[in-house]
Amino acid sequence: MSANRTVSRRRFVGGLTTTLGSISLASDSALWAQRGVATETAAPTTGSPAANGPTDEYDSFAKLAGNENPWGPPDSVVQAMQGAFKYANRYGYPDGAIVNAIAQHHGVKPESILLGAGSSELLNVVGLTFLQDGKKVVGVDPTYVSVYQHATSLKSAAIRVPLLSDYRQDIPALIQAIRRNHREVGFLFFCNPNNPTGLVVPKQEVRQLLDAIPEDVPVLIDEAYHHFVDDPAYATSVPYVLEGRPVIITRTFSKISGLAGMRLGYAVTTPELVQRMRPLMTGSINAVVKWGGVAALKDSAAQERVKRMTMVQRLKTTKQLLSLGYSAIPSECNFFMLHIRRPVVPVIEEFRSKGVLVGRPFPPMLEHLRVSIGTEEEMRRFMVAFKEIMAV
Ligand SMILES: Cc1ncc(COP(=O)(O)O)c(C=O)c1O
Repeated sequence: MSANRTVSRRRFVGGLTTTLGSISLASDSALWAQRGVATETAAPTTGSPAANGPTDEYDSFAKLAGNENPWGPPDSVVQAMQGAFKYANRYGYPDGAIVNAIAQHHGVKPESILLGAGSSELLNVVGLTFLQDGKKVVGVDPTYVSVYQHATSLKSAAIRVPLLSDYRQDIPALIQAIRRNHREVGFLFFCNPNNPTGLVVPKQEVRQLLDAIPEDVPVLIDEAYHHFVDDPAYATSVPYVLEGRPVIITRTFSKISGLAGMRLGYAVTTPELVQRMRPLMTGSINAVVKWGGVAALKDSAAQERVKRMTMVQRLKTTKQLLSLGYSAIPSECNFFMLHIRRPVVPVIEEFRSKGVLVGRPFPPMLEHLRVSIGTEEEMRRFMVAFKEIMAV
């Protein structure tokens, strides 16, 4: 893989003027969604472009579009969920003490935990909480776009800072954007590691960022892919919550634990922010997944296994691609961004026609293809299709 992490801090797209302006959301993802292609969890019940079709069709696809865990939940989690079905007919039921389990896992008080129907619900509730009165969200572009889409739906907007030319998040530009627009800023959003690039913001840069922005600016840090990271320069930002900063960390059981279809995520934040956000939650988490979540937290061996299998497939596939002359951004996640050196939109369609679902376009990276890590067989199918499509 081409790992050019040392290139200059020249902007990847656009200049500082655009960076610091207040830019309302482009409708790229919305347009793509209209064409029948959902963002990862823009519509969790549909989940992927094939999800509305017949079941057989869905099952037949190699699903490398949604950054899911292709192996599904481990036995320990399935068993815990099966055991919880006896509560299917109840409103109030034992929930496995899921909140306490999460709090213990992070060394925080239970008052610091807020459960959501997937981390998506929490991302939306942060928007609902902090984007009142014309406030805007600040973050990089491209990133996990659902936060910006939700801002648009709230008649708010995003102040988007382009990635650097090596696809890292531009911390000085984020700081500047927040300082310049302080009164307008509802919250800062960043995804660590970032989707779609798979790159981390190193812990020193997170500190630099948090120390440099005004203390009253809430910060939403999406750690959906935390468990896949190997880079020692990365660390979770949960300790900032313990310092009492207005930081909200979101995590999900959808990725490492293979529970995307069951919908469970959580936020770790200060008890004060939990209190502000809680009234806006829908309370739509089911009994079964709560027990699944408790079991998933305990099964660190299964998490390690998924991480290892993911890395094996990522390395194998990116090596094959490199030998064909194609480089990927060096990802720390269960997906990678491949530079295909041609417009990605028709390529995505071609993959689909060959039974392989790959990631949607991520403007302005329109010559990059995001490929989620699938099973060995799915990656084999991806490589066969890739060679046919690219004629290599
Ligand atoms: C960065 C990021 N955050 C959050 C989510 C949403 O995950 P969920 O709602 O399933 O927890 C995703 C899903 O792909 C994601 O990529």
